[in-house]
Amino acid sequence: MHDVLWPESARWERLVAQFARLVEGAGYGLAVTPILEHVGVFHRGVGEESEMVGKEMYTFADRDGQVMALRPEGTAPIVRAYVQHHPVPPWKAWYVAPTFRHENPQHGRYRQHFQLGIEALGPSDPDLDAEVISLAHDLFIALGLRDFTLKLHSMGDGNCRPEFMDLLRDFLAGHEDEMCDPHRTRYKENPLRVLDCKTPECRRATEDAPHFLDHLCAPCTSHFERVRAGLDTLGVSYTIDHRLVRGFDYYTRTTFEFASNAIDAAQNAIGGGGRYDGLVELLGGAPTPGIGFGIGIERLLIVCDAEGVFPTEPPPLQAYVIDLTGGTEAVALTAELRRAGLRVDRAFDNRSMKSQIKSADRSGAQVALVIGAEEVANGTVGLRPLRTDAAQRTVARSAIVAELQDSLAHPASAAPDEGTP
Ligand code: HAM
Repeated sequence: MHDVLWPESARWERLVAQFARLVEGAGYGLAVTPILEHVGVFHRGVGEESEMVGKEMYTFADRDGQVMALRPEGTAPIVRAYVQHHPVPPWKAWYVAPTFRHENPQHGRYRQHFQLGIEALGPSDPDLDAEVISLAHDLFIALGLRDFTLKLHSMGDGNCRPEFMDLLRDFLAGHEDEMCDPHRTRYKENPLRVLDCKTPECRRATEDAPHFLDHLCAPCTSHFERVRAGLDTLGVSYTIDHRLVRGFDYYTRTTFEFASNAIDAAQNAIGGGGRYDGLVELLGGAPTPGIGFGIGIERLLIVCDAEGVFPTEPPPLQAYVIDLTGGTEAVALTAELRRAGLRVDRAFDNRSMKSQIKSADRSGAQVALVIGAEEVANGTVGLRPLRTDAAQRTVARSAIVAELQDSLAHPASAAPDEGTP
């Protein structure tokens, strides 16, 4: 688990703001749910057999003896909230949420990570699937990412999945000796997991396994075709991945994952999601289809660094107030500038000019505003550019806000006698 400190935290703020702008522009509203849920929300929603619920959840009994879980993923809590408050569908929610999984930590895989996500409840319309997928895609593109692949698949529904599982089980029974040790004994319970297994043994054993897409029922096939057509219309390219089964029980029909090609293949999933048309019912609501995705913030930023995009820039201060008089001018001027919307800090503790200039420089501010005895007597302020060679100049105290706004908007004009026509 990590502390996120400034300036990295400033990048997080920008990312969340950019995501919020994007999805709010598509009708999603922020949903904030508790970090804890009754463990049953995940047992029922995600499935006790799933790796995440079975082996990775942080659970504890609270003082009343209720077993609680720290949220291991974002979808079940949003659906629990939907069932509890029954807003009118279609209901579109977005979230930014800390998420906890007791995994083996490594670069890009943490025990606490943060997810940006959306969930849309109500329509089963495949056009919504294309819209949801394209929102994640558009975020990555807006950040400047180019080197990623969208993997797309369908996991069918309650109608065609049991038949496909039987078919796959039969196929795997003929390849039992070739599978990795754990799957040799466990494949019967969940044969889909073998498709997803990364060991060379299981990869080889499943090379000729049947493809789910060839065995979807007619409604699932036409749904999937319409999703593909939607992505084509939106110019979102994808590859069909017959192994993409995703780890949670709630998925039905469309599933997808965005994989970065810029980092190590082990932890390169920057976002994933899919449809979960049975989840609302599982959590006690009326049958309501749903679809969404989650994007890992830490992983996304690792990938941004790998591609050299979305840099970490601390938001620069615009001005730094230096007061050599010990009077109240710094208090007043700093507040006035901040109230005018400028980013300003100041020195405290009546330190020497040299020390205050050093702090101003270290702060990253564009200019220092110097108040000495002479400036107070004359009703002026010294404006000293800190990032250019331009000389300090004297500005009327009453004009300083406008002057500063102007010089920040047109940095060249801060230097006098430039000789510009
Ligand atoms: P997920 O694929 O388990 O899906 O997680 C979503 C994203 O969270 C991953 O693609 C990855 O970027 C990030 N992530 C997952 N685990 C870790 C970790 N240990 N450390 C760092 N980042 C991680 C879900 O959680 C689903 N709830 C997504 C969804 C929403 N499906 C439908 N709606």
